[in-house]
Amino acid sequence: MSLTAADCEYVYRLVRQRAGIVLDADKAYLVETRLAPLARQGGFESIQGMLTHSQASPHAALRDKLVEALTTNETSFYRDVRPFDALREVVLPDLLRKRAAARRLEVWCAAASTGQEPYTLAMLLREHFPELAGWDVRLTATDISTDVLARARAGCYSQVEVNRGLPAPLLAKYFSRVGANWKLADDIRRMVDFRPLNLIERWPDLGRPDLVLIRNVLIYFDVPTKKDILARARRILRPDGYLMLGGGETTLNLDDGFERVDYERAGVYRLRSI
Ligand SMILES: C[S@@+](CC[C@H](N)C(=O)[O-])C[C@H]1O[C@@H](n2cnc3c(N)ncnc32)[C@H](O)[C@@H]1O
Repeated sequence: MSLTAADCEYVYRLVRQRAGIVLDADKAYLVETRLAPLARQGGFESIQGMLTHSQASPHAALRDKLVEALTTNETSFYRDVRPFDALREVVLPDLLRKRAAARRLEVWCAAASTGQEPYTLAMLLREHFPELAGWDVRLTATDISTDVLARARAGCYSQVEVNRGLPAPLLAKYFSRVGANWKLADDIRRMVDFRPLNLIERWPDLGRPDLVLIRNVLIYFDVPTKKDILARARRILRPDGYLMLGGGETTLNLDDGFERVDYERAGVYRLRSI
């Protein structure tokens, strides 16, 4: 039985209220394909049965699962390539120069999904900036979804996932085969601290990051939500730090406090000097 308009409306409202994600009104098919496995796992007879239970239940656990199932977790190692060229050639050399006295570097990777993005960064630091060995390097990666965080912490990827963007020499150097999958080396995994964080709620203490990545998640939010997240990121970012957004994202018309760094197709921003 397909979902009624009221079922879909309930799901759209829930996802918007709890995650800020705006789903177009014609996403009934997406809702059904994403929620069917959840209904089966939960032992419900149908998606409708699960939604009725979710609406009546005083417990938030099922509602959280529904929201997680509706998030898009698409990611890959070295996603879009150019941002990582910019990190290697411009952003990190500049930050290392500025932090040479303190010997401390703080990075926050928001909406990190299954971990390919922060692990790419960790491998990049290890490969190209050996001088960081004696530094206090803090890589914090967060996401709203506890499922993707568990996968990220495990650092175990399928052949398809490592084929997407991970250069063969890095696969050979930092991964070992475990059955059909590839497991990331413990010392790289330990470089990243994965924590739950919902971008539309109050953020826990994230320190004062030198570099903030919020890539490929603002696209799911409405304009006031994008503005709010960018403003909060601007306030915690060190004044001489950097922000990185995804390919289809910009601060333009959303936050005047940022200006784009001139590095083509990299989505790098810094604070505008006043
Ligand atoms: C498309 S992935 C992007 C992954 C990675 N940043 C990249 O660019 O490859 C979007 C991620 O945002 C997360 N997300 C969605 N809404 C969120 C929210 N309100 N707070 C935190 N994370 C959220 C999803 O769980 C998903 O893992």
